[in-house]
Amino acid sequence: MCTISDIMQIKTWADMQNERPHIPVLLNEVLDCFEKMPQEGVFVDCTLGYGGHSREILKRFGQIKVIGIDRDPEAIEYSTRLLEEFGERFEAIRGRFSDILPRILKEYRVCGVLADFGVSSLQLDKKERGFSFLSERLDMRMGPDAELSAYDVVNGYPLEELERIFRDYAEERAYKKAARAIVEARSRKPVESGVELADILAKVLRKRGKTNPATALFQAIRIEVNDELGEITRLLDVLEAEPPAGAVVGLITFHSLEDRLVKQRFREWSRKCICPPGLYRCECGGSRELGEMLSRKPMIATDEELERNPRSRSAKLRCFHFKGQESQDG
Ligand SMILES: C[S@@+](CC[C@H](N)C(=O)[O-])C[C@H]1O[C@@H](n2cnc3c(N)ncnc32)[C@H](O)[C@@H]1O
Repeated sequence: MCTISDIMQIKTWADMQNERPHIPVLLNEVLDCFEKMPQEGVFVDCTLGYGGHSREILKRFGQIKVIGIDRDPEAIEYSTRLLEEFGERFEAIRGRFSDILPRILKEYRVCGVLADFGVSSLQLDKKERGFSFLSERLDMRMGPDAELSAYDVVNGYPLEELERIFRDYAEERAYKKAARAIVEARSRKPVESGVELADILAKVLRKRGKTNPATALFQAIRIEVNDELGEITRLLDVLEAEPPAGAVVGLITFHSLEDRLVKQRFREWSRKCICPPGLYRCECGGSRELGEMLSRKPMIATDEELERNPRSRSAKLRCFHFKGQESQDG
């Protein structure tokens, strides 16, 4: 017999199913990129979200197991149900990928690693999660592990720190004005909601077509709250420390600073010679590369995808293929 809590749970699941579904970004490009991975072993989806990519990976590559990581309990609950049909071929783990991935790399033979950074549309769209201009609160934490919320940043950061995040993460010309406007507003009363914050910022930022002028500043606060650039750096450090032999890594970024981190690291990993510049002759042996980039330029959305999913506008996929065990030993 169903209890009230069962019915409520079913309703939550059904409600979520009826909400606008998350469309996996650059899906065809992602699937093509993993054609080169060993066709058995464990595939790690570092940003499971609403299971869109994982589901297609499970369908396309019949011999592999997928472990999905997400710091958001709602995403874990949703994807666990969505991917139930795959039985033991799918496992979900809640936490930060920088904490969980090292354990997986030690325990399993990993054949592929995917990360689709940033927030999912369902996180953005849920007003109570406090990510959007329409939200009644300021939160923006992707998961309960985040130490700060957007409320803490907006109401507690000193002026110079607000300027730093608006300058560095939003690359906003009016970063000083924006930071000062927040400090003035919060001296009267704390800034409680996304609506209030967007109003404060709209008064000092220039209008830019249809886009809300505060878009980049909201994104900057989110990046700070979730330490998103730190997480990407740690993910790259983990892979560099324990390169999974023969595996393919596909990373999707949405921000130029994120893409720069990935591009630079993939370039370093592809270098055959790691001798310091200025040496007369190579002394490292000239085959120190960890593998190769699958394409020099990032893959971006086709016109058809852009039309279907405007969120794919700024998505860039870069893929790296680690050398196999024999070539790593040799
Ligand atoms: C863009 S969505 C991923 C969508 C997914 N690829 C799909 O097709 O449904 C990003 C997800 O990654 C999660 N996430 C972001 N940074 C994370 C981190 N450092 N550790 C674990 N999960 C993270 C977010 O909570 C969000 O659910």
